[in-house]
Amino acid sequence: MQKRLFNIEGNDPVARDTFRLVLRTDGPVAVRSGQFVDIAVPGFYLRRPISVSDCLPDGVVLYYKVVGEGTRAMAAMQPGACLELLSPLGSGFHPEKCRESALLIGGGLGAAPLYLLARELLAQGKAATAVLGFNKADEICLAEELRALGIPVHIATMDGSVGTKGFVTDAIAGVRPAFDRFYTCGPLPMMKAVCAALDAPGEVSLEERMGCGAGFCYGCSVQTQGGPRRVCADGPVFDKEEVLW
Ligand SMILES: Cc1cc2nc3c(=O)[nH]c(=O)nc-3n(C[C@H](O)[C@H](O)[C@H](O)COP(=O)(O)OP(=O)(O)OC[C@H]3O[C@@H](n4cnc5c(N)ncnc54)[C@H](O)[C@@H]3O)c2cc1C
Ligand code: FES
Repeated sequence: MQKRLFNIEGNDPVARDTFRLVLRTDGPVAVRSGQFVDIAVPGFYLRRPISVSDCLPDGVVLYYKVVGEGTRAMAAMQPGACLELLSPLGSGFHPEKCRESALLIGGGLGAAPLYLLARELLAQGKAATAVLGFNKADEICLAEELRALGIPVHIATMDGSVGTKGFVTDAIAGVRPAFDRFYTCGPLPMMKAVCAALDAPGEVSLEERMGCGAGFCYGCSVQTQGGPRRVCADGPVFDKEEVLW
C-alpha cells in the first residue's frame, strides 16, 4: 500500500449523479479487481474509499456516485487537479477460483469493480455473463463497457424501463446463465438475495464506513463466521459462506 499523488485526466458525468474519474500517476500501477483506493478529498479529514473499476499501466479508472459532501467536492474537481490516494487497498476477487464460466452480479455502482474482474477472467481464458440491476434507466452505467469486452450483459430495472422489471434475481431466473462461480457487489439486501438464490460458490464485496482504511483502527469490523474481520484489510471481498447476514 502506497500514498501517491494522481492527476485527474478526466472527471465526467456518465449517469445520474454518477461520474467516471480517470487518474494518472508518475509510475506503474498494479491493482487487482475488488481492491479499492482511499481518496484524500481536499478539505475533508476522512478519506473516501472507492473501488477500482479498471487498472491502467500508470493509473486507475473509478466510478463514483454523488451522495454527500465529499463526493460532491470530487464532482467539482477539474482535469489537471491532483488527488492523493492510498492504493491499492484490500483483498480482491479470486478469478482463478472460477473453473470455466463466471456470473458477475452488480447492483448500481457495484458494477464498477466487476469490469476489471471481467477483464481478468477473460485474460485467463474464462467466460463471463453479467447481470446488472438499477432503479431506473438513467442510472445505468458500465453495461456498454462490459459488452465491449464481448460478454453478455443483462439488465434489470426496478421500474421496468430497461430489461427485466424487478431485481437482479428475477433477471437471473429468466436468463438461467451457465456458471460455476459467482461474484457480486452492490447493496447488502441484493447480495443477500443473490447468495440465497444461487447454489454455487460465490464471493461478495462488502461496504463499511472506514477510519484508517488500512487495517489499523478496526473501525470497519464486521462479524463473520470466522469472528470479526476488517472490511478494509481482510475484505472487502469475502466468500459467501463467511458473511453473517
Ligand atoms: C470498499 C468500498 C468501496 C466503495 N466503492 C465505491 C465506488 O466504487 N463508487 C462509489 O460511488 N462509492 C463507493 N463506495 C462508497 C463511498 O465510499 C461513499 O459513497 C463515499 O465515501 C461517500 O462520501 P461522501 O462524503 O459523499 O458522503 P458522506 O455521507 O458525507 O460521508 C461521510 C462519511 O461517511 C463515509 N461514508 C458514507 N457513505 C459510505 C459508504 N457507503 N461506504 C463507506 N463509507 C461511507 C464517508 O467516506 C465519510 O467518511 C465504496 C465504499 C467502500 C467501503
Ligand atoms: S478502517 Fe481502520 S481497520 Fe478498517
